[in-house]
Amino acid sequence: MSTLSYIESNRKRFLEELFELLRIPSISADSAFSGDVRACAERLAAFLTTAGADNVVLEETAGYPIVYGEKIIDPSLPTVLVYGHYDVQPSVPNELWNTPPFEPTVIDGKIYARGACDDKGQMFMHVKAFETMMQTQSLACNIKFMIEGEEEVGSSNLGIYCKNNKEKLKADVILISDTAMIANDVPSIDCGLRGLSYVEVEVTGPRIDLHSGVYGGAVANPINVLCDMISSMHDENRHITIPGFYDQVLETSESDRKALASIPFDLNEYKSHLDIDDVMGEKGFSTIERTGIRPTLDVNGIWGGYIGEGAKTVLPSKAYAKISMRLVPNQTSDAITELFQKHFESIAPKGVRVKVTPHHGGEPALTPTDSIAFRAASAAMKETFGKDPIPTRGGGSIPIVALFEKELETKTVLMGFGLDSDAIHSPNEHYGVFNYFKGIETIPQFFKHFAALNNN
Ligand code: BES
Ligand code: MN
Ligand code: MN
Repeated sequence: MSTLSYIESNRKRFLEELFELLRIPSISADSAFSGDVRACAERLAAFLTTAGADNVVLEETAGYPIVYGEKIIDPSLPTVLVYGHYDVQPSVPNELWNTPPFEPTVIDGKIYARGACDDKGQMFMHVKAFETMMQTQSLACNIKFMIEGEEEVGSSNLGIYCKNNKEKLKADVILISDTAMIANDVPSIDCGLRGLSYVEVEVTGPRIDLHSGVYGGAVANPINVLCDMISSMHDENRHITIPGFYDQVLETSESDRKALASIPFDLNEYKSHLDIDDVMGEKGFSTIERTGIRPTLDVNGIWGGYIGEGAKTVLPSKAYAKISMRLVPNQTSDAITELFQKHFESIAPKGVRVKVTPHHGGEPALTPTDSIAFRAASAAMKETFGKDPIPTRGGGSIPIVALFEKELETKTVLMGFGLDSDAIHSPNEHYGVFNYFKGIETIPQFFKHFAALNNN
């Protein structure tokens, strides 16, 4: 039987099995869901075994387990290591979902659920593609699966696991589906990811909350001060003002910028999709460049004082913010976090004390476009989409890509099938049924081409 007809005749089950995983709220950030995260790992391990993988285990870590499985058909053949994550972002605010976040619902050809695209839907395509190759006797490479449960919280235990299991994880390429394409009729492959520095800041003024009439005007208000400090970190060109912030930034070559400029992109559609009347960003760069090759600083959350019903006149004692910086090659997460910390402390006015607490980070990465693996991915997408995929840059972060390269000296191919409009991390996340099956069809083509190109 051909892979296509196997996929066709198992369509319904392939969807239902994904839905089973989507029903498990495997939110790694919230310990209230720790039982569900583990249950998801167990269910996934069972699916891997049924699909035909050997030596399937839950690799225990200091956090959530890594699901490992493999099929070594011939040690002389190339080996593909598939990485993905079974954990998901929190679903809150739940009231903004049109359907329950953990009850997958298909509307207009899209599967609505937290994790539908990021990353259960995309990760599970690999399990079903593997099953398909096993059942049609077409698996052309050895395969190793490493699916983690802590990607959304920084992958800190995966790094340790990789360091300790270099031999076991040895592979010729790492294949990841956890990124997006330009459009369903414009296939593309991300060749770069941004890194991340994430910090939490605390600004403390007076010892206790005060009456804002009795003391207001005479005592530093930590929220006012925090807002000043945050807004001073961008200048009028929306350039980041932290001294040294851009020192390590790898300037993109003119030819690479030309290539980025030729990527199909409709600014009006972008604005109307987001319901904004204009975009905003660093002067001198296009929207694609602002999200692909330039670093950023964004407040992710800010709080303090009175936020309950009605009005309480209070001058707060404390103000807080969570701030992320997206990094590009060759910035490094620790160095940028340190620059931020120094700068933030130096701009704090008298009358407040500040504290900076670093959270997880991740390094930026570039993936090669001249490798056998990239050519195999290109050829695979060309077969199933009828067009050569366009090399692009992803604005998000997958910390393990740089880590893989450092620890395992193995390069990655980011063959993602999502769309930027899939609302990952947002309410009503979804993934196209088309994209799910397109991925399941394309992955076996990758294995076929990767084996063939390695043979030449
Ligand atoms: N799959 C995303 C990353 C992504 C999305 C890359 C779209 C490129 C395009 C991943 O699950 C993610 O959300 N990563 C986090 C990083 C982590 C350290 C919390 C991110 O980018 O915020
Ligand atoms: Mn992801
Ligand atoms: Mn994510």
